Amino acid sequence: MLVSGSEILLKAHKENYGVGAFNFVNFEMLNAIFCAANEANSPIIVQASEGAIKYMGIDMAVGMVKILSKRYPHIPVALNLDHGTSFESCQKAVEAGFTSVMIDASHHPFEENLQLTQKVVEMAHAKGVSVEAELGRLMGIEDNISVSEKDAVLINPDEAEEFVSKTKVDYLAPAIGTSHGAFKFKGEPKLDFERLQEVKRRTNIPLVLHGASSIPEYVREAFLATGGDLKGSKGVPFDFLKEAIKGGINKINIDTDLRIAFIAEVRRVANEDPTQFDLRKFFAPAMESITKVMVERMNILGSANKI
Ligand code: G3H
Ligand code: 13P
Ligand code: ZN
Repeated sequence: MLVSGSEILLKAHKENYGVGAFNFVNFEMLNAIFCAANEANSPIIVQASEGAIKYMGIDMAVGMVKILSKRYPHIPVALNLDHGTSFESCQKAVEAGFTSVMIDASHHPFEENLQLTQKVVEMAHAKGVSVEAELGRLMGIEDNISVSEKDAVLINPDEAEEFVSKTKVDYLAPAIGTSHGAFKFKGEPKLDFERLQEVKRRTNIPLVLHGASSIPEYVREAFLATGGDLKGSKGVPFDFLKEAIKGGINKINIDTDLRIAFIAEVRRVANEDPTQFDLRKFFAPAMESITKVMVERMNILGSANKI
């Protein structure tokens, strides 16, 4: 059933577990997300970026989610706009049927971020749609980073408290050292868990981890084995995800892992049979592969069997 983001995340916040927010750009990714949720008996958040919406068409993105949520009526699912860049973009998503929108004004000065988020919250809440915002800059932090450098980049707990109480935003993405894509850390993985705990204590709302792909060894291996190149890649280790959930993270954004696992399968089929050109022979194993990745992740995040 299609529900608001808050309906899924407030339960996770109260019961202390994480829910995967998986990005999709086509039917195959979306179908695999629902298959994984069905297998793991897990709630899900499915999300489309502005780029994904441009690729699919907003009506197609919403239409596919509605059809699949009818096919699996027992699965609570929220449809989130990922990294909305403007009020207009969030408004279009709300009007099209999204049940959650992220306004990402984190690159603007604090006051501007606050005012824009307030405006989006007012518009979205009037339609029963939940809102996510972000504070701090998403980027990896290194071992030898100074306190002042850290403060300049990562979320400030004082600001977080003020931001949440003034905007009434439903969930917040704190920058604690993750980044998007396959190359998250130069040295050893490092996240600021203390800062996270402080933000949770001061805000007491569901928190969101962006850039949460793990690139497990078997996913990396599958990509490399088919001729892919992922030199220097590093994800967020599973133990870090568990620690982050203990510290108050409830929404875990995952895109890169799905992209890598999907393309590894497409390339494997192409390599094994150069005469193959039936799309289904490529996409069926790719869907199966990312379904497995997600079922494993739902067990790690603690959302399995939470329906
Ligand atoms: O946060 C970024 C997501 O992985 C979506 O990326 O803008 O390439 O669709 P995209
Ligand atoms: P990854 O690149 O780690 O999958 O993060 C995705 C994300 O944060 C989407 O908003
Ligand atoms: Zn993100």
